[in-house]
Amino acid sequence: MKFSQRILGIKPSATLAVDAKAKELSAQGKNVISFGAGEPDFNSPAAAFEYAKIAMDKGYTHYTASSGMQELRQQICQYYKQRFGVEYKPNQVVVSNGAKPCIYEALAAIVDPGDEVILMAPTWVSYIEQIQLLDGQVKVVDTQDTDYVPVLDRIAQAINSKTTAILLNSPSNPTGVVLEEDLIKGIAELVIKNDLWLIWDEIYERLIYGQARHINPVQLIPELASRTIIINGVSKAYAMTGWRIGYSIAPPELAAKIGAFQSHLTSNPCSIAQWAALGVMRESEQDVIRMRDIFKDRRDLICGLLSEMPFISFPEPDGAFYVFPSIKECIGKSFQGQIITDDQVFCRLLLESEAVAVVPGSAFLAPGHVRLSYACSPDLIEEGMRRLKRFLEKLETSN
Ligand SMILES: Cc1ncc(COP(=O)(O)O)c(C=O)c1O
Repeated sequence: MKFSQRILGIKPSATLAVDAKAKELSAQGKNVISFGAGEPDFNSPAAAFEYAKIAMDKGYTHYTASSGMQELRQQICQYYKQRFGVEYKPNQVVVSNGAKPCIYEALAAIVDPGDEVILMAPTWVSYIEQIQLLDGQVKVVDTQDTDYVPVLDRIAQAINSKTTAILLNSPSNPTGVVLEEDLIKGIAELVIKNDLWLIWDEIYERLIYGQARHINPVQLIPELASRTIIINGVSKAYAMTGWRIGYSIAPPELAAKIGAFQSHLTSNPCSIAQWAALGVMRESEQDVIRMRDIFKDRRDLICGLLSEMPFISFPEPDGAFYVFPSIKECIGKSFQGQIITDDQVFCRLLLESEAVAVVPGSAFLAPGHVRLSYACSPDLIEEGMRRLKRFLEKLETSN
């Protein structure tokens, strides 16, 4: 039977694969601690359930507008006005089944075969696959030697006549880096000068720690509004990954195209989940702040424990809920007779020996690293770090 070239080229999500492997081992009775999944362990806020129940009781079980309910799109505009002082109209918002399809739809609306999209590496896995699914080209700007902070000159050098967009994610999955004002201004100049699109994924914008500040580029440079596609959603800030509600905000003409694309692909996202999203955006600000504060404590805990370990180094993350240590010093060492040749072997041996799941950095275009999600309880973080330390202390220099 024939499979398309497009689908033959696709790689399954490495983060979901690690999580699936961890769940499989747990089902076999192993006491696995997973730092794999990128999802908060909290329950969704009460308002999600209240609004969903009301929606069900009232029988709001039919198709909504394909780009999302008007009330929810209005609420999203209000959120952007209050949080960033940026004015959007509901016809600029398309609500989808999570933020993931929003990115795909946005890319589909601007990328022709052969067009290049610039990404910072380390980068989130799905960007790469989505661009390739659309026959676009990924152009990588490496940030590994600058503590994952992008260098403006390198971005400028990556731009050529095929470049269509720069895709940025701040705070970043997998590094936790938060882009600063000067850099955003510099990138904005490049975007405007070269007539590009900016895809700005700020799904982790509520999860910012310490002195760091999240900046929305359109708030900073209003001129960017006509060429920026914002990606956001309720998955991370409101602990609502399973409800599958995300959204894009784009200039009206582009938003109409994205909406048309979605109308043929999925139609509206689940009506009940849209009501739940509306509920939390109206009523759950305190929950967002509470969860953020807990994530901050967890970040401090995991970073403190990691900093005591041999053979790994990392810049402290300012946002999201990931740490992305280099394990390059472990490569070439051996664990119980087996040589660690790369990050994938490191992850496999760690999972097999200590039942600790972390994601190989090569999935994020950063071999020699691993990603740990600290969206789990302090007890699990402490026990997981004890096991990781024990694993690292057993590494031997191989001959
Ligand atoms: C950077 C980034 N963007 C988008 C998403 C997608 O979020 P959602 O679960 O709403 O599809 C994720 C999820 O892990 C992410 O890490």
